[in-house]
Amino acid sequence: MPLLEVRNLSVTIPTPEGDVHAVRAINLEIEKGEIHGVIGESGCGKTMTGMTLLGLAPKGARIVADSLHFDGEDLSKNAGRLRGRRIGLISQDPAAALNPVLSIARQMDDVLRAHRNMSRQERWAEASSLLAATGLPDPQRVLKSYPHQLSGGMQQRVVIAQALATGADFLIADEPTTALDVSVGAQVLALLRKLVSDRGLTVLMITHDMDVIAEACDRVTVLYAGLSVETGPVGEVLQQPGHPYTQALLAALPDAAPHGARLAAIEGSIPPPRSGIEGCAFAPRCPKAMPVCAMQVPPKRLAEAHRWLCHLPASAP
Ligand SMILES: Nc1ncnc2c1ncn2[C@@H]1O[C@H](COP(=O)(O)OP(=O)(O)OP(=O)(O)O)[C@@H](O)[C@H]1O
Ligand code: SF4
Ligand SMILES: [Mg+2]
Repeated sequence: MPLLEVRNLSVTIPTPEGDVHAVRAINLEIEKGEIHGVIGESGCGKTMTGMTLLGLAPKGARIVADSLHFDGEDLSKNAGRLRGRRIGLISQDPAAALNPVLSIARQMDDVLRAHRNMSRQERWAEASSLLAATGLPDPQRVLKSYPHQLSGGMQQRVVIAQALATGADFLIADEPTTALDVSVGAQVLALLRKLVSDRGLTVLMITHDMDVIAEACDRVTVLYAGLSVETGPVGEVLQQPGHPYTQALLAALPDAAPHGARLAAIEGSIPPPRSGIEGCAFAPRCPKAMPVCAMQVPPKRLAEAHRWLCHLPASAP
């Protein structure tokens, strides 16, 4: 059984102007010990999916799923309890995740006190060892610092140490390198990989950067308009993308995609989040669209562990 199993998740947010379909039908299977990338254009539901797993969907949101399970526990009932105990968040902006007026020592200690049964001395030693585990060179000095005295890369390492301090073994990293310089971002990705292998962590890596998928992830799920349209091992999806959307994303990357390349623009835009979708959501932008595409929901295509949704037969790509 996968560590995280999400089947047919939808998240609908009622607003005075009508329902926003932030997530329409997302499937995710994440095995323990993998870094699973989730990629797609802005507004495709990446953050909303992560927030729903953390029990932090907006108030009033309607969350429906055939399955929403973490390590056998039903997240639709227990997400709040699992957050901070098993599931942690690393967000895009480490400065915003840290309290500017409290020392790092105090912030680490607050987390350890809330989650672990340790004496004061044990908590100090644990805070220091967690900061060292994130590659911070002088943990004692970092503990005495305030967030503004640290660089963005150091702040992100502190945020990761805080997530580990809760005891979380599943991290949702929402664009964790976007606010960082390219080289610092690469170091943070290397750190996450190291933590996965040293500590048996599992990471859901949200990004719109193909390089992050290629460099850091084992498997990837591609989202389009709140739908998971393709999933599989990174090598297979990048080398032989099945879905025309993934093909277009990869084709739109410059030949020698510079390090840090973001998703290149492809013509057209995603369907408005308030509208319903008939047939294939990508049909209005798809260069391979056929009449059936606008009318019928595309079937699942399979190539072993690699799956995608399309009316074209599996041999077509
Ligand atoms: N609180 C909210 N109320 C109404 N609509 C929302 C709310 N939060 C998100 N949405 C909408 O839900 C959709 C999905 O948003 P989400 O933030 O998950 O996108 P994303 O894939 O993370 O995009 P980005 O790459 O820009 O971060 C968008 O259309 C967004 O405008
Ligand atoms: S189902 Fe049709 S429109 Fe959708 S991606 Fe496949 S070929 Fe394109
Ligand atoms: Mg987002």
